[in-house]
Amino acid sequence: MKKLVNEPMAKAKTHFVCQECGSTYSKWSGQCRGCHQWNTLVEETLTPTLKSGARGWSVSEDSHQPGSRPKVHRLDRKLEQANDQRHRTGFQELDRVLGGGLVPGSFVLLGGDPGIGKSTLLLQMAGGLAKNKQHVLYISGEESVHQSALRAQRLGITSSQVEVASESLMENILSLTKDIRPDVLIVDSIQTVYLSELTAAPGSVSQVRECAAQLMALAKGQNIAVFIIGHVTKDGNIAGPKTLAHMVDTVLSFEGDSSYQFRLLRAQKNRFGATNELGVFQMKTEGLAEVDNPSEMFLEERGSDLMGSSVFAAMEGSRPLLCEIQGLTSSSPMAMPRRTSLGFDTNRVHLLVAVLDKHLDLGLSKCDVFVNVVGGLKITEPAADLAVAAALISTTNFQEMDGQTCFFGEIGLTGEVRRCQFADERIKEAEKLGFNHFVLPESNKKHLTKLLSKLNGNVVWIKRVAQLPAILKSLRQNNTSTKPKERDLF
Ligand code: TYD
Ligand code: MG
Repeated sequence: MKKLVNEPMAKAKTHFVCQECGSTYSKWSGQCRGCHQWNTLVEETLTPTLKSGARGWSVSEDSHQPGSRPKVHRLDRKLEQANDQRHRTGFQELDRVLGGGLVPGSFVLLGGDPGIGKSTLLLQMAGGLAKNKQHVLYISGEESVHQSALRAQRLGITSSQVEVASESLMENILSLTKDIRPDVLIVDSIQTVYLSELTAAPGSVSQVRECAAQLMALAKGQNIAVFIIGHVTKDGNIAGPKTLAHMVDTVLSFEGDSSYQFRLLRAQKNRFGATNELGVFQMKTEGLAEVDNPSEMFLEERGSDLMGSSVFAAMEGSRPLLCEIQGLTSSSPMAMPRRTSLGFDTNRVHLLVAVLDKHLDLGLSKCDVFVNVVGGLKITEPAADLAVAAALISTTNFQEMDGQTCFFGEIGLTGEVRRCQFADERIKEAEKLGFNHFVLPESNKKHLTKLLSKLNGNVVWIKRVAQLPAILKSLRQNNTSTKPKERDLF
């Protein structure tokens, strides 16, 4: 006789996934061996990886079945349709960061701190795309339809080409997209959507990875441009697995300081353009507005006391940008004085302080040194060295700077000032804003022959950093004696 035994239910297999880097382990441990972060392992039920396209679409229509031959294109043949046609998003700043407009079928990830304006940017972009005859579906997993619609209304988006919905179940998002067939799909945010087949919580590594895979298949298979919003971790990286950044075509980051109204949009990765472009926006009561002249904005609050303040002509991608660099030194009782820097590499400050001490005997080794790039900008170019050095010399020697001078040049360890690229673009931008004196590396001279006649001798060439204090002094004296009235206005 068969024994009736209550068979115990099979225990679901689980594994531990690092929520920072996505590494998986069979046992829990306090620290992830992959990324060395603590307390990031979370137990998740093991589910077989979903085949992208099982429910939605596959990357290519032809590769549905195993054994089917993928489509091959020989490059000497003409493409059937012009796939490189890009769409204007309504924001020139966003178009530039995307590499010249939105590519149909692209998969874009936008990351940024909470409340920085990601939803606002993409909703306004939806409005802009609609004006260019693009059909946009905006799906929010964070806000109700009413809230999204209200926000769109407040932002002045009234087009019939934009539809908003509230949904967080991935299967429903895919079927709604299949129904509506938009040109552009926006999912706000990837951390709130989930596939019901997976038991892991929304926002967990496996949910984010699988949902992103579904959306990628949708973008590539149906030629729908897909935007996803991603939350960021406390150290500023996009939350979720690293594979997320590998999957998408473009990773955009929206940054800004909560104390400033402006927002900076950068591309961290872009398969359709350069990654060093910068878009500048301003958050206003009626939404985000583009900033046409960012240099003017960054110099807006430049004070009248110009001790320790210099102007640097930076290059952000293809665009020149003027910014104010402030330096402050104060004697320190500490054996190891502080070197603090905001918006500029602290290691580079250490290097510059050592070079200035060696060649100018400023006594900085006994001083705390502070460097600040005004307006929350982050300067990574070594071309800022000369402007930082000028600000530090000015503050240490209690010398006021000439307010109409602009600097750029890289400083080497032997005290030489080295050539910079894009000198003419930088000078033209500075001239537009009324800067009429320039301190430039001498090695740039031969590349600027065309501009030189126009500049009328207002350029001071510098070869070694040791010349800088004398140059600053002469510039100040010349300008004070020639334009006393203008200077009083400061
Ligand atoms: P939001 O787009 O919701 O940010 P995110 O999606 O990145 O979390 O923007 C929220 C902030 O923007 C909020 O603090 C208020 C501000 N804001 C304005 O100042 N003006 C506006 O017109 C809008 C829509 C938002
Ligand atoms: Mg939001």
